[in-house]
Amino acid sequence: MCGIVGYVGPKSTLEVLLGGLRRLEYRGYDSAGVSVIAPGGHLETRKKAGKLDNLIAEIQANPLEQAHIGIGHTRWATHGAPTDGNAHPHLGGPESKLSLIHNGIIENFAELKAELLAEGTRFASQTDSEVAAHLIAREFAKVGDLPTAFAKVVNRLHGAFTILVIHEEQPDVVLAARRNAPLVIGLGDGENFLGSDVAAFVEHTKRAISVGQDEIVILRADSVEVRTFNGEVVHPDEFTVDWDASAASKGGWSSFMAKEIADQPQAVADTLMGRLESDGSVKLDEMDGLSIADIGAIDRIVMVACGTASYACDVAKYAIEKFARIPVQVELSHEFRYRDPIVTPNTLIVAVSQSGETMDTLMATRFAKEQGAKVLSICNTQGATLARESDAVIYTHAGPEVAVASTKALTAQITAGMLLALWLANGRAAAGRATIPAAELQRLGLELLKVPAKVSEVLDGLDLARKLGKDMANAKSVLFLGRNVGFPIAMEGALKLKELAYIHAEGFAAGELKHGPIALIEEGQPVIVIVPSLRDEESLHPKVISNIQEIKARGARVIAVAEEGDHQVADYAEHVIFVPQTENIFSPILTVIPLQAFALELSTAKGLDVDQPRNLAKSVTVE
Ligand code: AGP
Repeated sequence: MCGIVGYVGPKSTLEVLLGGLRRLEYRGYDSAGVSVIAPGGHLETRKKAGKLDNLIAEIQANPLEQAHIGIGHTRWATHGAPTDGNAHPHLGGPESKLSLIHNGIIENFAELKAELLAEGTRFASQTDSEVAAHLIAREFAKVGDLPTAFAKVVNRLHGAFTILVIHEEQPDVVLAARRNAPLVIGLGDGENFLGSDVAAFVEHTKRAISVGQDEIVILRADSVEVRTFNGEVVHPDEFTVDWDASAASKGGWSSFMAKEIADQPQAVADTLMGRLESDGSVKLDEMDGLSIADIGAIDRIVMVACGTASYACDVAKYAIEKFARIPVQVELSHEFRYRDPIVTPNTLIVAVSQSGETMDTLMATRFAKEQGAKVLSICNTQGATLARESDAVIYTHAGPEVAVASTKALTAQITAGMLLALWLANGRAAAGRATIPAAELQRLGLELLKVPAKVSEVLDGLDLARKLGKDMANAKSVLFLGRNVGFPIAMEGALKLKELAYIHAEGFAAGELKHGPIALIEEGQPVIVIVPSLRDEESLHPKVISNIQEIKARGARVIAVAEEGDHQVADYAEHVIFVPQTENIFSPILTVIPLQAFALELSTAKGLDVDQPRNLAKSVTVE
């Protein structure tokens, strides 16, 4: 939800902090701030409401001294409006010698604040974070040792937090703690880094460590110590970041979203790489975390996710049930967690999350594990909390997705879902319970291998989608219809438009229209329809054509997304955006792309910020 950076070392701390915040800005951008300790030991802070550029202007107007230790924060407001005063860092102690930044929510901040107020502490903000700053400063004044004071206070905090602290009386150390919020360490040579994710420091080092739940980091230029909240020393594993800083920069594109739409052939291909052999067979070594006994015992799959990731689950459901004949239910994480669901040791939980830090999804998987279920996650962020808490992980290799509106992560998630469906079907066959002929499985695998090239073809044919987006910049409402695997894509197309253009957009199952939503249709109402392939024997194509006729009869303006060679649809739609033919169940990977481009162009035509839409953050790390 917020972006956090920490640094200690010989470089210009301000450059490291601002560079990291720039790369983390997608995590939250309603205010930003930095604190540094100059070599004389004097703590200095600058913070400003608004985007990072406002902070940079503030620093240009009021320069900071050169420093070699500091912390930086870019905020997505939870407690307190996005003002200068509520921006992080927050200062602690009567002489403001301590600086703190925080990502998350301290749920018991009110009682802690009352305790401080009773002692006469004066607060400069309405935030829960400032409470922690004063508590640590007060404890440090008592014990004189920052790690001791820090550990004592973080043990009192409830909720979700990543906290970083520096103190001018101990100017060589950055302290950090994490509970239910992300934190990674970057290991340098004579320098070390902290960040909400590796984007904070990847331009300086690719050596990283994920900090575990309830752990404290004592970070110096030449040493990194990790302890539990109870003081036991921890020796976490190091990993190497598999992408570089350029991957997290725009690379000449007008926006991160435009770049990431264009990244999709590579994202899909990289997600298939090493997992789908040239003969069409599927190899998922990642599933070794789940024994074959586990797999054989699965009698139900529950997929948990939020937002766009949940639509990837909806598509995967069709494939897993069709290929492996295992019942799948898709649940919104935040609903699943609190409806007292039925979960048994024979339930496989599949959690899908680009960031791997979505608190709703983390809470859902933790709940399911308590009920004895195994958890497989499909995640795009190496070392993310969800990945570390899962029994097995299938990483999507989409590279860093910076734009808040998810695009390449979705097509990579759907690709991973197809791989899982084929792998499960293979597993059933290996257990003597074949659900689909081996030749058919191989044909599907070979078809899936062709999808990255077909994604490239879709990208080459987006002119009409872009033109329609521009032309409809003043639309007040757009409806989306889809059927079967097209239905989740209709939902996703609507979500993209809501997120990016801030207008009413709604996705429906096409068959549901006459059960109520058709009342929405009036003269000129734009409706985008995902038309299924007409090549399948049980094709739903005729039914969707009927749906199009029903809405045209009531004045709708119909834009169809259909497969090449569909010569019927043009008779019923004002515009047709064609995508290459593929297996119908793989078609969402292709049909979603014109909807992404449409939403991007419509939002751009309205002069909106496509990478950082209002009110949103890239990763929602609070429930
Ligand atoms: C999608 O465009 C949104 N950014 C949002 O719905 C997102 O997909 C959702 O918050 C889940 O995020 P995750 O994949 O990181 O868990």
